[in-house]
Amino acid sequence: MTNDLKVLFSFLLFVIAVSATPRGPKLPFKLPFHTDGSPHIRSAHGDIVRLVGTNWPGHQEAMIPEGLQYSSIKDIVSKIRGLELNVVRLTYATEMVDDIFDNGGDVTLKDTLNNALGTANGTIILNQILKKNPQFSPKTKRLDVFDAVANELASQGIYVHLDNHVSKAIWCCGGSDGNAWFGDTHFDVSKWIRGWKYIARHGAKHWPSLSSISFRNELRKPDVDRGDPYDWYTWYTHMTEAAAAVHSAAPNVLLVFSGLDYDTKISPIIKGLPLTGTSGTSSAGKSVVFQPSTLPYANRIVLELHKYDFENTHASCEDFGNSLYNAGYSSLNTTDPATKYSFPVLLTEWGFIQNGTYWRDTTYNKCLIAFMEKWKPSGWMQWELAGSFYVQTRATTVQDADETWGLLTHDWSAIRSQVTVDESLSKMVDATLR
Ligand SMILES: *[C@@H]1O[C@H](CO)[C@@H](O)[C@H](O)[C@H]1NC(C)=O
Ligand SMILES: *[C@@H]1O[C@H](CO)[C@@H](O)[C@H](O)[C@H]1NC(C)=O
Ligand SMILES: *[C@@H]1O[C@H](CO)[C@@H](O)[C@H](O)[C@H]1NC(C)=O
Repeated sequence: MTNDLKVLFSFLLFVIAVSATPRGPKLPFKLPFHTDGSPHIRSAHGDIVRLVGTNWPGHQEAMIPEGLQYSSIKDIVSKIRGLELNVVRLTYATEMVDDIFDNGGDVTLKDTLNNALGTANGTIILNQILKKNPQFSPKTKRLDVFDAVANELASQGIYVHLDNHVSKAIWCCGGSDGNAWFGDTHFDVSKWIRGWKYIARHGAKHWPSLSSISFRNELRKPDVDRGDPYDWYTWYTHMTEAAAAVHSAAPNVLLVFSGLDYDTKISPIIKGLPLTGTSGTSSAGKSVVFQPSTLPYANRIVLELHKYDFENTHASCEDFGNSLYNAGYSSLNTTDPATKYSFPVLLTEWGFIQNGTYWRDTTYNKCLIAFMEKWKPSGWMQWELAGSFYVQTRATTVQDADETWGLLTHDWSAIRSQVTVDESLSKMVDATLR
């Protein structure tokens, strides 16, 4: 080829490459992400990654992402984008995957809604979903709905963080719900691992912006002793088994480890303490240390914590910050001699009622923003996006339940409380990213 032809040829290749790039905003950091023994998540280019997002539940009885009877997936994702968020923590129930293995395959939209809502309301909600999301049919499967959500998130420049929220598909979390701890009534460890292998492989293949997963939401002690002993040794055994399974199915995703007591404590991992068993149980006398260098996925490990305002806090921001530090954010302080291992820490749940005043009723919101400003950690996901649920079971089962903590209105058409978003979510974004 002459030089002129070469130039022309590479120009043509360039034109083809550019026009083949998907439209819409690009993902802000290049995948895959990794960690490097510092408190930061890094992009494929080595940039420091900060994730700011919200939770979009898909783990309740209907086992599909909420809100689709009120809005198209595209419009919901545009709203997330409009809030300047770059990640969604998408929750699922292991039961969804159990159905695929044990009950004849993935369940159709029609059947899942009928199961969850009864045939009368199931039919009504199905028709509303199909009207708002005409790409679906009654025969569309649950995982196809997850795929559609994940693909739209990717095409609007938003990462997917997949969270195993529960085993049995129901509102989370309490000590008596059977989903609390390894071996609890509904929490079959082998099904949980089987489910992870399946969905991690599926997500790695089909979801272009899948960045990370968290193994289990809010591990907690069952109200009466059920299942495995509740201790850090048992935690280590099952979490590392799940991590190995996910890592071999999806080697590029970050593996996010949650702590004990509703994910409010992860500090023994950071301090490199012995993780011990419980006397008088099957874990008696056992002990192990979480040593990242011995794990094949050392460069994918991230920790997570949750922080809510159940204390109705009026603490000073110094005390509030110290409680987060002691819960596990000491991971970010590499000069603290007690910090043996540093990992990035994501605050995968925080939030409060979106009623226009709560943001200033306690010091929680102010102190959380101050904490983000001080530490610039790897990120967070607000609880939550949904303005309502297909069905929610707490004390009773309520269809079309209102979610007063949701960023969106009941019908998912608008922001529920603009002042709350301006004073909390937007300030959290600024504190973290700027
Ligand atoms: C059906 O939906 C309506 C409207 O949301 C609700 O009032 C009613 O309780 C639902 N039916 C059942 C059986 O839950
Ligand atoms: C980090 O740890 C050191 C040593 O304990 C301490 O002096 C310092 O104040 C800590 N940094 C922050 C920002 O808390
Ligand atoms: C918002 O919720 C809090 C906590 O429930 C309550 O104390 C406060 O009065 C509420 N504000 C409004 C305007 O309803």
